[in-house]
Parts: sequence; C-alpha cells; structure tokens
Amino acid sequence: MKRGENLYILIIGLSVFIAGCSLDKIPPSTNNKYQSKVDSLLKIMTVEEKIGQLNLLSSSWDVTGPTMNKNYKQLIKEGKAGAIFNAFSVDYVTRLQKLAIEETRLGIPLLFGYDVVHGHRTIFPIPLAQSCSWDMELIEQSDRIAAIEATAEGVNWSFAPMIDVSRDPRWGRVSEGAGEDTWLASLIGAARVKGFQDKDLTDNNTLIACVKHFAAYGAPQAGRDYHTVDMSERSLREYYLPPYQACIEAGARTVMTSFNEIAGVPSTSNRWLFRELLRDEWGFNGFVVTDYTSIYELIPHGVATDSAMAGELALRAGIDMDMQSNIYSKHLKKSLDMGKVSMKDLDQAVSNILLIKYQLGLFDDPYKYCNVQREDTEILTQKSQQFAREFVAQSCVLLKNENNTLPISRSVKKIALIGPLSNSKDDMLGNWSAAGRAEDCVTLYEGLKEKSKTYNYKLEYAIGCNVLEESTSNFNKAIELAKSADYVILALGEHRHLSGEAASRTDIGLPGVQQQLANKIIALGKPTVVVLFNGRPLTIQELNDKAPAILDAWFGGTQSGNGIADILFADAIPSGKLTMTFPKNVGQIPIHYNMKNTGRPVRDENPLYKFTSRYIDAENEPLYPFGYGLSYTKFDYKNLLLNKEEITSTDSIQISVEVSNTGNYDGTEIVQLYLQDIVGSVTRPVKELKGFKKVFIPKGEKVTVSFTLTVNDLKFYDINMNYKFEPGTFNFLIGPNSVSGIKGAFTLL
Ligand code: GLC
Repeated sequence: MKRGENLYILIIGLSVFIAGCSLDKIPPSTNNKYQSKVDSLLKIMTVEEKIGQLNLLSSSWDVTGPTMNKNYKQLIKEGKAGAIFNAFSVDYVTRLQKLAIEETRLGIPLLFGYDVVHGHRTIFPIPLAQSCSWDMELIEQSDRIAAIEATAEGVNWSFAPMIDVSRDPRWGRVSEGAGEDTWLASLIGAARVKGFQDKDLTDNNTLIACVKHFAAYGAPQAGRDYHTVDMSERSLREYYLPPYQACIEAGARTVMTSFNEIAGVPSTSNRWLFRELLRDEWGFNGFVVTDYTSIYELIPHGVATDSAMAGELALRAGIDMDMQSNIYSKHLKKSLDMGKVSMKDLDQAVSNILLIKYQLGLFDDPYKYCNVQREDTEILTQKSQQFAREFVAQSCVLLKNENNTLPISRSVKKIALIGPLSNSKDDMLGNWSAAGRAEDCVTLYEGLKEKSKTYNYKLEYAIGCNVLEESTSNFNKAIELAKSADYVILALGEHRHLSGEAASRTDIGLPGVQQQLANKIIALGKPTVVVLFNGRPLTIQELNDKAPAILDAWFGGTQSGNGIADILFADAIPSGKLTMTFPKNVGQIPIHYNMKNTGRPVRDENPLYKFTSRYIDAENEPLYPFGYGLSYTKFDYKNLLLNKEEITSTDSIQISVEVSNTGNYDGTEIVQLYLQDIVGSVTRPVKELKGFKKVFIPKGEKVTVSFTLTVNDLKFYDINMNYKFEPGTFNFLIGPNSVSGIKGAFTLL
C-alpha cells in the first residue's frame, strides 16, 4: 500500500504490543557460523591480548565525555585496544586500522564507533522531533542514510538508538529519545536498529547498532542527569524496559550500560540486568559496552573501593567492553591472577566482541569501510537533502494557529524575521550532531530567503536578543522592523547545548528575555507566528496565551530552514503530534498522559472539590497533551463501529471510525487509539496508546480507519508480576490526540 494513494483505507492496525511481552528469544544467530573461528583465535591469544579486546578508547577528534587520553595510537600498537570511537574519515580510520593490523602480533581488526544519533553528515531532526512524525518508515530511512554516510567515512558501529523512555523534560537527554510512551518508543527503537543494520551486516554500508542506555536512564530523580533511579520492578518492566527489548528483538548487536543506578545497583555492575534479564531472559547474544568511564564511576557510586574492584564487579556483571576508563586494561590481569575474576568470564567477553567483528566481515577485510570513492559520492547527496527537508516538515508540530495566521498568505509583501534562532547555523544541528557541520545547515532566514524567490516577498531580519543574555538593547531595532512588515516570524527557544547530555534545567521556560521581546512584538498586532527551536518540552504558557500561532520546529538539522519554510507557506502541511507532554509549569513534573487514576481523582462534576488529587495553585492538565498537534485542515471523527462488544481470549475486536477532511487543505492525520483497563489486579493507567495510523486524506474526502486488537494488546504485569491479560471492561478513545475523540467500550469475557 503506497502512502497517501488510497482514499479508502481499511487498516488492520494490529498493534503488536511489544512492551514486555514474552516474545520468542532471538533465533540462533549467525554467531554459530563464526564460533569455531573465535574459539580457535581465543586459544592462541595471550591474556594481555584478550584484555586488549575489551578496551574502547576515544580518539581526539571529538570529545564526548570527561576524560581524554592522548596515547590511544600507542595503545593500539601495543594490542591494548579492541575499538576506537570518535574517529572517522577514510584516511584516519585506515591509518588507525593499519596500526592494529600491521603492528600487533595477531592483527585483530578494530571496531570504529561514533554517536550517529540523528544523522552523520546529513543531520536529521533531533530524535525527539523525529518521534513526533510517528512515521517508522521515515525514521528507519533516516538511519539507513546515516549508516550509509557513516560507513562511507569508516564508522562501523553507531552508539544509537538512544531509547530511554522519559517523563521529565527537565532532563536534557529527552532530546535524544522517543518521548514518554513505551509502545511508541519500542516501535521507533526497532525501526532505528533496522535502519542501521539493514539486512546484512557484511555489507559495507551497514553498521552495528547500540541500544542505550540500559537501563531506565530517563528516569533520574528531579530530572537531574546521572541522578538516582529508583522504581519498582513493575514500573521498570511495564514502562522502561520494553523499548530496549524491542531493539534486541530487532537484532541489535550491542548494548550500552547507563550511568545511573537502579534501586541501589549501578547498571554497570548489575548482574541481574545484564546476565539474568538481557541474556538469559531476552536471549541477547551480542556484546555489552559501558558508557563513558562508567566502570570507574562505580567508585563514586560507592559500590567499589578502587578501580580493580570496579573492574571485577563489571566483568562479573557481564560487561564486555570498557569505554575509556582503561580499568580492564590496567587491572584485569592481576584480578585474574588473584582469582577475583575467572578466565571463563574473560573468554566470554572476548568471544562476544570477536563474534561481532567476524559478523561485520572485518577479519576478511579490515578496510572494507575505507573506500574513498564512497566517501566522495555517498555523503550529503541531493537525495538525502530532499529526504531531510521532508523529514523536517513531518517532525514539526503546529501547537497553535488562531485566525488562520498560518499558512502565511502568498500575497504577503514584507516579512520581518526576528529572534536569536533566526539565523543560527550551529543551533540547527541540535546536540549529538556527529560529523554534522554547521556550514551545511540551512537556517530559517536562509530557508525563507530561498522561498522568497517563489513568493516574491521582501525579507528582513533582526536578532532582537540573544538566547540567554538579559540585554534588551536590540529590542527597538526589532520592533521598528516589525512595524514596517506585514507579517512577523519570531524565531525563539533554546540553543542546541541547553539540551542533551549534562544539560538538565530547573526552569524550562523561554531563556533570557525572549518572552519580553515576544510580548512587545506581538503587541504590535501584526500577523505573527512563533517558530520554536527546542530540545525538550518547554513551559510556554505566556507565549501560548499571547502568540496567535506557534510552530514547534525543534532542531531540524541540515535542512531546518527549508523544511520549516515549506510548512509556513503550506508547501508542506503540518502533521506532527507531540510524543512528550508539555507541562504548564515545572511543578507538574513528572507529568505524562498515562498517569494512574488514584483513589481520589478530580471530580468532573466538581473539579474544585477539595479532597481530590489536584493542586491548589494550578490545574492538573498540561499545556499540550501527548499526541497533540494541529493541521491547516480540519478532521472530523464520526461513525464509530465495533464488530463486537464482547471478546474472548481467542478473539479479536475491530474498532473503526470515519475520519473526514472538512477543511481547505489536503492533510495527514495521525489517528490514535487509547485503551483504559478499568479494573485490574493492580492499578492501571487512565489510558494507554494501543494503536495509531498516519493517514493522508485529501480535502473533502474521508477514510475509515480500523484497529484490530487482540488480548496481546491487553497484557500487563499482574499482581504476581506475570505478564497476562485479565477479563473486564475496557474504555477506549479514538481521536487526534490523547484527550479528545470518540469514546466507547468493550468487554473481555
Ligand atoms: C556519552 C553518552 C553516550 C555516548 C558516549 C560516547 O557520555 O552518555 O550516550 O554514546 O558517551 O560518546
């Protein structure tokens, strides 16, 4: 079925609920094909050579953590490195690989890892933005392009997907994830793994994925990065673990430990997490790498007295490779001699790593990713730029559009572009921008300049203020410019480093004096749209109250300006929907759509009744809910149809609704289905996303969207922690977001 060509779409939206279900273990991998080779190699390796394979060192080309070592080339020559990260280009990778192949006794090839999180040279929208497209094909395709570009520059291992569920926008790394919903994140994680690894890891344009950060890194107390995570096993399994499992089921070959502890046990020394859950229960058969120096960090965590003990704890927990702490390299030999770790554990770790190198074909050709011709022809292609531009448009979320402020009238004569994000190439990259270069990015100013060639308007730009500084000295110039124009675009938000790693914020409002600038500009009464650039949900209540229109553009990467301009002029129609709740204020956090009802829910008939679960100084409702996003057209939902109202455990139920495009533009709607399990052996969320379909509907047309549910979609961890469904009545909601639409119910007998 081609996207957008079928007016009448009967969709069997089988929502395979990935979260935690007892899926078959990974089929016997191709590992068996190479095991005998690995075993033969292990037999001739010295202990030092074995330990060398467990060492992952950063090159000096990029800095992504707290330590650097300058002597990584010497360590490669001494056989003390199994992999290098933060190095790319055919020339550089060739030079480093040669050191391993030609200067060490056994010539074992190196892996080359890099944080290819949302593109390599062609940078796509940040992952949180991408998730707002709800489009698995686009997401997979973007990581396919990323893999092609990264492998063309020598990289064969991506430290992605980052698939940490998070409900706390104070945490800066929400920008790298897939939002707050477990099932959506599971689908996105699997799509990313498929994009990176594709069908054959021996191809020279595929690379190994790395599922991170295992586990539950997205739930730090107070939204403070690296902070303590403490939750029940029920919450862990129900809401945080399924996306990692979905990536393993999709074939991800590596997993990265998370910095945090879970309930007192740091992940990097957590035997239950890595041996019992990841390998025994889920059947993972790749290798585990730590995050940056996280073996060393077992000491400040307070579970290791010194580096040697930290290394012993990690190896015994099933951690195969040590990123950048050099602890395995320095201490494992002595720990082995003292019997504190076993040769069996060491051999298993080395075997896990060597198997992946064989699977990639590196022993057959260590330079297979060093192809200058590919480097010259497969990066920043016209095709990838066009795809990136479309992806920007599909990742934008239209939050407000009063009086049809958008799209901008094509008769507009002069546009004033005002704000600190108007023309910032660097910020368009977002965080974790790998080999992305600011000079390759199209800013909003440049995109609008290009668009003016089509629609013949004059464009002028004034910065108005900086992102963070308190100075208002540029206000007047901006105000004068706005007065002279017949349309105003305000480019406001965060700069790229206000989100990402080590970038938690206690105040997630518009930084600096941007709100003041906006108030003065909006007060002029011109048609005005705010284009928001952000790496997280922001508390923008005042902006929402005053701005006639708000488009959330996140950080769109290389083609930001062009994609946003397409939306502003309706050359592309907004269809994005939020995958993270926007709180009204920080006090509401954590706030997410799938909360529990509590014993004292707010009473619809008397919302201010005192003794209910609410605030006395704010509402419970967020500013914008999960699943929310507007279009330029209007979609009406009617004619709900169920093929039955009672089902048994062997049945399925089909729920259909008719969605009509009653507006003036063709458009794409993301139709969402939520269920509420009213009574369970444990409390259940007030609603859970169980299906969605992204459907193109020409203006004046209608489609019937159908969802088919089975008992697999009704499972949860019951009172005995068994993953099961239970009989009872289920409410459902089908609509454009998590709070509005058509309601109904069915019963599982
Ligand atoms: C960083 C990040 C991790 C990244 C790694 C290598 O600290 O936590 O996501 O992959 O180091 O750059």
